Amino acid sequence: HGTSKINAEGRLEIGGCDVQLLAAEFGTPLYIVDEALVRQRMREYMDAFRATGIPFQVAYASKAFCTMAICAVAEQEGLSLDVVSGGELHTALKAGFPAKRIHFHGNNKTPDEIALALDANIGCFVVDNFVELDLLDALAGERGKRVNILLRITPGVEAHTHEYISTGQQDSKFGFNLAGGAAFEAVKRAAAKPHLELLGIHSHIGSQIFEVEGFRLAAAKAAEFAIQVRDELGILFRVINLGGGFGIRYTAEDKPLPAATYVQAIADAVRTNFTAAQYPLPEIWIEPGRSIIGDAGTTLYTVGTTKDIPGVRKYVAVDGGMTDNPRPALYGSKYEAVLANRANEPATETVSIAGKCCESGDMLIWDIELPAVKPGDLLAVFCTGAYNYAMSSNYNRIPRPAVVFVKDGQASLVVRRETYEDIVGNDLLPERLKAAP
Ligand code: LLP
Repeated sequence: HGTSKINAEGRLEIGGCDVQLLAAEFGTPLYIVDEALVRQRMREYMDAFRATGIPFQVAYASKAFCTMAICAVAEQEGLSLDVVSGGELHTALKAGFPAKRIHFHGNNKTPDEIALALDANIGCFVVDNFVELDLLDALAGERGKRVNILLRITPGVEAHTHEYISTGQQDSKFGFNLAGGAAFEAVKRAAAKPHLELLGIHSHIGSQIFEVEGFRLAAAKAAEFAIQVRDELGILFRVINLGGGFGIRYTAEDKPLPAATYVQAIADAVRTNFTAAQYPLPEIWIEPGRSIIGDAGTTLYTVGTTKDIPGVRKYVAVDGGMTDNPRPALYGSKYEAVLANRANEPATETVSIAGKCCESGDMLIWDIELPAVKPGDLLAVFCTGAYNYAMSSNYNRIPRPAVVFVKDGQASLVVRRETYEDIVGNDLLPERLKAAP
């Protein structure tokens, strides 16, 4: 997929770069991002919305993969940006991302994070709860500002996905519940705040979703709520944000829809429900993360040791693992991989790919068919662009890999590899703990 192919030497090539040469230049483990594919994914959403004729914003959910380079790409492609922390916000600002196109999410934004966002004049706060509503109004007031907000509502739509990543159901830490009237109360209070400009509402029903039904339902619930608010409070929403969650193909089990199909379903549902109530059509915003960066990412590892338990299993260990990709350990996620230096050889054995961390759960792939694997071989694991680097850790004090963007035969380092000095960089050794000379 994307620009990946097997070259004349039988090696995997991405963005016109032979991954064996990338390994030699940048080392492994290495995150490789197919920049052309990222841009294509971004354009798919933008083009699909343009075709609907409805005003829109596509905000890249930077939680999936946040670096200055990806912020710059999103800005070039005309997207907005969804950030959920001071760290993501700082990254975006530092990359020169226009503050007006930044949306700030999160269920517990700290006063410092809110202050940072206010002082940067970001475009919109997605307010999650009553505490935040008061805090944001107060902090905006101190600065003599009036800021745009959306209210995050919990629509009670349950997406069929992994339970840890479903957020639309009623029993969720996120948002104002529609049921029980919290969302309605939030609109009343927000409208009365002198320093808040209520643009509309937001909902996010989950992640890695393969059908459009959940989005249709969420759009219908949003419309129903908007109509109630108009009829009872005389307030009109100008923006309906339906969040992210569009699925991608990790393995053959996954059957995602094209971006345009999700967009059309959302646009149709919003148009139908609002038009029926003679409600001025609101802008539609969405926040895809995984579906923009997920399949553009590949992680390249070097094979180290193997352990063959005859009749049971052969373990093949690579030089990374749950530190660079915690998703198999955390969610039981499945991935596909190839031997990148011998990508044209037929599979001859079934092996399981282990990480190098000191725990048994550090397995990347169970039971994959590969050519006979030798130490020094390169293993490329696909679809690791989303929630891999973003969720990476220094467990076992393993330095984080480098990230390179590849495009048209050029490889650009966008995150340098962590060093052992980085690992101890924040450590302090108090005088009284220093060994006597
Ligand atoms: N908007 C909101 C409010 C979200 O909470 C999320 C994801 C997104 C947008 C982007 O969703 P996406 O398009 O990427 O599905 N760590 C998990 C995924 C957590 C998703 C959290 N929220 C994983 O690795 O599968």
